[in-house]
Amino acid sequence: MIYRILTVEDYPSYNALRGMALDVVPEAFGSTNQEEIPHRKNRFESNVTHQESFIMGAFDDEALVGMVGFLKLEKIKIQHKGIIWGMFVKPHIQGRGIGSKLMKNTLEKAAQINHLQQINLDVNAENQAAIRLYEKMGFIAFGREKNALFVNNKMYDTILMSKIIK
Ligand SMILES: CC(C)(COP(=O)(O)OP(=O)(O)OC[C@H]1O[C@@H](n2cnc3c(N)ncnc32)[C@H](O)[C@@H]1OP(=O)(O)O)[C@@H](O)C(=O)NCCC(=O)NCCS
Repeated sequence: MIYRILTVEDYPSYNALRGMALDVVPEAFGSTNQEEIPHRKNRFESNVTHQESFIMGAFDDEALVGMVGFLKLEKIKIQHKGIIWGMFVKPHIQGRGIGSKLMKNTLEKAAQINHLQQINLDVNAENQAAIRLYEKMGFIAFGREKNALFVNNKMYDTILMSKIIK
């Protein structure tokens, strides 16, 4: 498995994997394909060309099989914070350490960013696999939002987690 930052040329692979993620586990994400597709390419390009935001990918041969996004906040009062988003590993290869390696690489790269002090994320409260992975990587739960997501006629709480970098 090769782990590397996505570039503009990776858009077709990103589009396919992101589309799959939002279809297969809609309760794990705040976005829907329906709303996101018209803006996906622009957002992807602005993300991967931004100096301090990036998407880390796991490639099996040439195929993108897993990814996680890191977004550095920009406004002056919150520029010490970053956000993890869009974590997904293709279902048939989950549980083999790919998610952990994606997150480890992301944290290492984020730690090099000047002024970054903490990284936040939110996760569906029923998503034990992801919560355990994040805890293993040093994220600590600091809150629970009741009924944060309404997906397929069901309400889900989300757990808010944070990791202090420096
Ligand atoms: C969450 C996800 C990215 C994890 O990726 P992965 O490659 O399966 O993760 P790993 O194999 O590195 O497992 C990391 C840890 O997660 C936990 N974990 C993984 N699968 C698990 C499962 N089925 N049940 C419980 N814990 C699990 C374990 O603590 C594991 O650590 P361990 O192997 O030391 O026990 C993957 O399951 C996924 O894509 N899920 C669907 C999308 C999603 O939920 N994204 C998160 C949005 S917040």
